[in-house]
Amino acid sequence: MSHAEDHEGTRRDFLYYAAGGAGVVATGAAVWPLINQMNPSADVQALSSIRVDVSGVEVGTQITVKWLGKPVFIRRRTEEEIQLAREVSLDELPDPIDRNANKPGLPATDENRTLDEAGEWLVMMGVCTHLGCVPLGDGAGDFHGWFCPCHGSHYDTAGRIRKGPAPENLPVPVAEFLDETTIKLG
Ligand code: FES
Repeated sequence: MSHAEDHEGTRRDFLYYAAGGAGVVATGAAVWPLINQMNPSADVQALSSIRVDVSGVEVGTQITVKWLGKPVFIRRRTEEEIQLAREVSLDELPDPIDRNANKPGLPATDENRTLDEAGEWLVMMGVCTHLGCVPLGDGAGDFHGWFCPCHGSHYDTAGRIRKGPAPENLPVPVAEFLDETTIKLG
């Protein structure tokens, strides 16, 4: 297969992920192959920045897209999820740093982690900060956000670690809205 064909294949895969709506990828936790993190293929490197069409993402659902060989969760949160995340005080958080590449080093308030000011859109790497499993979403765990069953890490509706061995909040990658329905990663 030529490089050009291979690249096309990757683009098609991506469009499938981006267009498929909620629950596209992970319905169960899986160990993300370490090799993917360490040796991204030339094609993956070529896609260091991607655009994701989020027009089909309903409130209360999320999609998972593959970016740089890793899953990225894009969730459109409900009012209840936003409220739950915003009423948490910082001293309840095991990791008080926002872990947001767009606003590095700030406190881990909900406002500092979401993509938009209203807090509807949350974009995070779907990789547990303990040993790299892909956490379960859609309200999973004791804090109604994400749950990593590998060793029992519970993340809240802002993707912040609340209980279990994971040391840090799920990282927020460089991301921005290009228009109302397009998110650019990277
Ligand atoms: S990898 Fe998620 S809890 Fe260990």
